[in-house]
Amino acid sequence: MPIWDKWEKYSTLIKNKELEKHLPETTRFSTEKELWDFVYRYPSVILKPIDGSRGRKIFKVSEVESDKFEIHYLNSREVFIGRNYAYSYFKNKKAPRRTYLAQRYISLANIQGCPFDIRVIVQKQKNSNNWIVTGKAAKLAGQGFFVTNNNNQLRSGSILPVAEAIKASNIHKVDDNGEKLVSELERIALLATKTLEPIYQGHPIYGFDMGIDSDGHIWIIEANLNPGLSYFLKLADKTMYYTIKKMRKR
Ligand SMILES: Nc1ncnc2c1ncn2[C@@H]1O[C@H](COP(=O)(O)OP(=O)(O)OP(=O)(O)O)[C@@H](O)[C@H]1O
Ligand SMILES: [Mg+2]
Repeated sequence: MPIWDKWEKYSTLIKNKELEKHLPETTRFSTEKELWDFVYRYPSVILKPIDGSRGRKIFKVSEVESDKFEIHYLNSREVFIGRNYAYSYFKNKKAPRRTYLAQRYISLANIQGCPFDIRVIVQKQKNSNNWIVTGKAAKLAGQGFFVTNNNNQLRSGSILPVAEAIKASNIHKVDDNGEKLVSELERIALLATKTLEPIYQGHPIYGFDMGIDSDGHIWIIEANLNPGLSYFLKLADKTMYYTIKKMRKR
């Protein structure tokens, strides 16, 4: 297993006491029983491949009534009576032979029912120990999807400026155009970067997927070491895209 898998990054981040409250509980599971034990503890859980999948092969499982499970996959939701049926559905659809993580589902803020999260890019300045946030963009899920990834394989989702997304969202108590929320997002992304830095020495760029729930609490969903930049090309204003690229070249 490569050391940049999601479990490795989560285990590193969770050691930081301040980040702990920003990380959804996550576990690795290898048996069906371990999976159900985890599902039992939360209203909904996400199952995702440990090594990343660009939004594909990710499932949301909820026990909607006793022994009745809903599995949300892509833009479809199916209900199963009994764990056996639910588990076979997952097993048949999951990425073959790949290890999965189970993570507590965070009820992300939404715009007209479509959830969104924020991609935050952090880069190291040349010849210094300074890290700076060079880009952020809101990824809005497509109609009926819970994953916010926006790519050709999924054919869903859209990208918008962070301030615009916060303003249009169901997050309560935003009375300053979301400025406080955005500076908190940046602070947490920088703290996460500094926590990962000793493990990935010399690595110059991180891309975080950060969620905000309707109470305005910030969650780190994942840390990418090789973040794609295409999200930033989808914004009308391409300034961030060029800033990130220029810095990456150096
Ligand atoms: N715990 C969670 N709660 C709510 N939504 C989640 C959670 N985990 C994942 N998601 C949704 O699914 C999307 C994809 O998950 P994640 O970013 O962890 O994997 P990925 O993008 O497939 O991985 P990679 O970028 O490494 O290919 C997230 O951007 C988010 O929209
Ligand atoms: Mg991601």
